[in-house]
Amino acid sequence: METKKAIENRRSIRDFKTDAISKDIVEDILNCGRLAPSAKNRQPWYFVIVQEEMKNKIADMMIDYTINNDDTIERKKLGCASSVNPTANVIKQAPILILVFRPKDNNWIVGDSLSIGACVENMCLRATDLGLGSLWIRDIVYVSKQVEEMLEHKDLELNCALSLGVPNQNPKQRPRKELKDIIEWY
Ligand SMILES: Cc1cc2nc3c(=O)[nH]c(=O)nc-3n(C[C@H](O)[C@H](O)[C@H](O)COP(=O)(O)O)c2cc1C
Repeated sequence: METKKAIENRRSIRDFKTDAISKDIVEDILNCGRLAPSAKNRQPWYFVIVQEEMKNKIADMMIDYTINNDDTIERKKLGCASSVNPTANVIKQAPILILVFRPKDNNWIVGDSLSIGACVENMCLRATDLGLGSLWIRDIVYVSKQVEEMLEHKDLELNCALSLGVPNQNPKQRPRKELKDIIEWY
């Protein structure tokens, strides 16, 4: 697929079919992430691919978080429900969850986060290119400590995650600001 078409066609997918995705396909997508540019070429990413029970366990940690967290309960009272629960349900539905870690290094928070952004977008675009759906996930950070402990990765911090699967929906393009409203030329 032409790059521009993949950029235009990519959507956040929140409804997946049960079809499995092969290891080769997942590694093809991870490889496109690996090829992303990064600040000082630090390549500050480490991927853990979770499926089935372990994936669902992480989703349950997120659901438990929303049940037990005062902030979420307050928000619900205000009619502004948190997205953590719906995101956890997407994680359960999609067959693959890629956890994206970065080294724990306070000097590189901004640079590493920007680099991981480039890496994850590459993976989303490759998934689109292959006819697969993806959801880039930040809501998982509420359980980052638990996930880090479960996987015994003491030197790594969970930055975000990516759900992958065969899409069971074809959403329209979500609203975007007009180019004229977000640029200035001199
Ligand atoms: C860094 C980042 C974090 C995101 N985290 C979540 C998330 O936790 N849950 C979710 O449902 N969507 C998440 N999204 C998806 C956004 O909501 C989505 O990209 C946005 O609404 C635009 O829709 P589109 O991706 O279909 O164009 C995230 C997107 C980005 C880039």
